[in-house]
Amino acid sequence: MSSIAVVGLQWGDEGKGKVIDLLAKDALHIVRAQGGNNAGHTIVIEGREFRFHLIPSGIVYPHTNCYIGGGTVIDPKSLLSEIEELTKNKISYTGRLFLSRYAHLVMPYHRLMDQLLEKVKGTTAIGTTGRGIGPCYLDKVNRCGLRVADLLGTPTHFYTQLEKTLSFKNRELEKLYDHAPFDSASLCEEYLIYAEKLRSLAAPVEELLYEASKRKERILFEGAQGALLDNTFGSYPFVTSSCTLSGGICAGAGVGPSKIAQTVGVAKVYTTRVGNGPLPTELKEKELSLFPDHAAARELGTTTGRKRRIGWLDAFLLRHTICLNGVDSLALTKLDILDDLDEIKICTGYKKCSSFPVSIDALLAAEPIYEVHPGWKLSTRTIKSYGELPVKARNYLRRIEELAGVPIALVSVGPERAKTLWLDRFFE
Ligand code: GDP
Ligand code: IMO
Ligand code: MG
Repeated sequence: MSSIAVVGLQWGDEGKGKVIDLLAKDALHIVRAQGGNNAGHTIVIEGREFRFHLIPSGIVYPHTNCYIGGGTVIDPKSLLSEIEELTKNKISYTGRLFLSRYAHLVMPYHRLMDQLLEKVKGTTAIGTTGRGIGPCYLDKVNRCGLRVADLLGTPTHFYTQLEKTLSFKNRELEKLYDHAPFDSASLCEEYLIYAEKLRSLAAPVEELLYEASKRKERILFEGAQGALLDNTFGSYPFVTSSCTLSGGICAGAGVGPSKIAQTVGVAKVYTTRVGNGPLPTELKEKELSLFPDHAAARELGTTTGRKRRIGWLDAFLLRHTICLNGVDSLALTKLDILDDLDEIKICTGYKKCSSFPVSIDALLAAEPIYEVHPGWKLSTRTIKSYGELPVKARNYLRRIEELAGVPIALVSVGPERAKTLWLDRFFE
């Protein structure tokens, strides 16, 4: 098995960072293919927490090569501050962090327009991360974006492209939002400083990955966001602006589908989402009060610090997102968070829905059908193997597996590496 894609099956924050960190030990190449610094992937190593937004989580291993693919959107300032964090943490990146010149640049007007549009939308706001992701992808699709290749061209080339773009972006800002325009000269000056700092990272990522796959070296593709945030198949319009599915990984990394041998879907054993939009199994106030608080459950957004909304596991949704991604096996995370509950619910379907609702109104109105499972009321945090889990916890997991229709490959019982119960060893 030479390449594995790791994707989120819910609304993001499933624990993809931890799973990538576990698998990166045995991989040589780690690739981010889509999204931008809206993503926040956390890993915990010997009590130290690392948070990644654009840089692949596998960078903490000195043996890995890490790639930021052409389908991503790069905020240079944010990428540089992540790189600074690496240096502070004594993680070397020289010669092993590569950036595709195809990636689009997130510019300050993208961030501004993201925030202004959210304000204008008022009660119908998406609840974006405010990082300019939507406006940047919008320009990409509208064929007026700036790319890493432009930033790393001659200063005259970048200035000309930026001035051309600003000529209509500024009109939009002034006329639609009554906002002051951007000055091309000072913005260009700022970005050319970033250019010099990023220049050494630029590489033909697509070719490097092709050659690596021909040598049968192990490649890990690190999905960002989750299937229900996918721009086509997610809970539209409450979604992000990229394709978050395994298919999107091919398009974003510039690799053919035959180069991905296996897809691992990551899901929490409950559901969360941050931002607005439907969450059919969202906990009622009384149920939420029985759940560990947000800080204890590590349910504060990695990127924005917002409280994540919490719901019961939605197996109807999981079946749908397993289908969209062609998932081969499941990595189930955060079992320990359910340790103290008396009862745990699983949603097996929505009333009057034979298939997963497409329209947002139908999804907002969805009435979950629940089955109730007894809690195991024992700590799973110190358990070392699947067989040692309390019987009720194993029954709960077995039921998820049955409803999902794909095998569980690992169960996570804490944020640290060691808190992992393996049922399948990857790359073997
Ligand atoms: P990602 O975006 O999918 O990488 O997930 P995030 O890192 O944004 O959020 C997952 C959070 O849960 C992080 O704080 C992780 O450290 C934490 N986490 C991951 N797996 C487990 C687990 O099994 N148990 C607990 N308690 N925390 C976990
Ligand atoms: P990771 O990779 C959770 C959500 C935002 C918002 C919607 C659109 O850490 O799982 P955007 O800024 O992308 O235009 O916001 O998508 N969102 C995420 N939620 N995890 C993420 O990434 C997310 N990236 C975007 O909260 O609801
Ligand atoms: Mg996250």
